Amino acid sequence: MTEAILLVGGKGTRLRPLTVNTPKPMVPAAGVPFLTHQLARARAAGVDHIVLATSYLAEVFEPYFGDGSALGLHIEYVTEEEPLGTGGALRNVASRLRSGPQDPVLVFNGDILTGLDIRALVAEHERTRADVSLHLTRVTDPRAYGLVPTDESGKVLAFLEKPQTPEEIVTDQINAGAYVFRRSVIDTIPAGRPVSVERETFPELLASGAHLQGMVDSTYWLDLGTPQAFVRGSADLVLGRAPSPAVPGRCGDRLVLPSARVASDAKLTGGTVIGEHAVVGEGARLYGSTILSGAVIEPGAVITDSLIGARASVGARSVLTGAVVGDGARIGADNELRDGVRVWCEATLPAGSVRFSSDQ
Ligand code: GDD
Ligand code: MG
Repeated sequence: MTEAILLVGGKGTRLRPLTVNTPKPMVPAAGVPFLTHQLARARAAGVDHIVLATSYLAEVFEPYFGDGSALGLHIEYVTEEEPLGTGGALRNVASRLRSGPQDPVLVFNGDILTGLDIRALVAEHERTRADVSLHLTRVTDPRAYGLVPTDESGKVLAFLEKPQTPEEIVTDQINAGAYVFRRSVIDTIPAGRPVSVERETFPELLASGAHLQGMVDSTYWLDLGTPQAFVRGSADLVLGRAPSPAVPGRCGDRLVLPSARVASDAKLTGGTVIGEHAVVGEGARLYGSTILSGAVIEPGAVITDSLIGARASVGARSVLTGAVVGDGARIGADNELRDGVRVWCEATLPAGSVRFSSDQ
C-alpha cells in the first residue's frame, strides 16, 4: 500500500464563476465532485492513505468525504492559513505521512483527469531509483504548463514552468501533475513559507544533482483548469473516454441522476449529465453539457458544450454554446449565448436580451 498527497488548495481563478462558491476539486463532473474520481482512481491503484492539502474554501472537503471510509480510504485534511504554494503544501503535510524516508509518496495536482497507470509510475520510480518521478504527457501548445525535457532514458534535464520566450520551448513534453517523491525529499522542502514545487523545488533538485525521472504516458489527459476543459472532462467521463470507477451509473451518451426530471422528448447526447433534482423541459436538446443540481432547463432550449450551475435556469428556446452559467443565475427565454461567455452567479438576463445571429 502507498500513500498520496492531493494538492487541492488552488483558487481556481480561471474556472470562475464555477469556483466562486465551490473549490475546483468539488465542482461536480459526471455527477460527483471531481475529486471523487481522483480518489477512486488512487484507491484502485492501491493507495490507502490520502492527505488533502487544502487552502481555498478548505471547509467544504471534510464534511463531504469525512474519514474516507466510504471510498475505502483513510483521508486526512491539512489546511494552510495562507496558501503555501505547491511545494509548501507538500512540506506542510509531511508530519502526517506514515512512509519511511526511502518509501514512495504519490502526489497529485487536484485538477487532472487522466488514465495514467499509477502503479506503472511507482514501478518506474522504483526501477530507476529516482528521487522524484514525474508523469509527462505531450501537448501541441505547452506554454501553459511545466516543460520537462528528458534524455533517452527518461532522465529529466530541466524543468521550465510556463515558458515566456520561444527559446524556452524546447520540448512538447509537459509535467502532467502526478509525481512519486522519495519521502525524504519532501522533508527537505523549506517549511513555513510559500514554495512552488515547479519553480523552486524541481529546478533546485536538478541543480544539486538529484535524479528526476520522467515517464511519458500518452493515455487520456486533461487539466480541468478552464470552463471549456471542465465541461469536456465531465462529458468524457460520462462517455467512458476518461476512465473512472466513480461515475455513478453506466457510461454512455448521457448520465441522468435518479432525482432529475427529464421530459420524454428531450434529447441528451454527447456525454451530457443532468444533476440531482435538475429539470429538463420538453423538446430541449443538450449536447456534451453538464447541468448541475437543481438547475432548470426550460422547453426548447438548445445547450451545447456548456455548464449550467446549481439552481440556475435557462429560459425557453435559449441557445447556449460553450457557455458557463454560474450558480443561481437566470437566463431568460430567447437568448443566444456563445463561446466563452461566463454569466456570474445569481445574475439575471432578461428574456430576449442577447443575440448573435441575425433575425430571419
Ligand atoms: N494546498 C495548496 N496550496 N494547493 C495548491 C496551492 C497552494 O498554495 N496552489 C496550487 N495548488 C494546487 C491546485 O489546487 C492544483 O490542484 C495544483 O496545485 C496545481 O495548481 P494549478 O493552479 O492548477 O497549476 P497549473 O495548472 O497552472 O500548473 C500545474 O499543472 C500543470 C499540469 O496541469 C503545474 O504543476 C504545471 O507544471 C503542470 O504542467
Ligand atoms: Mg491546473
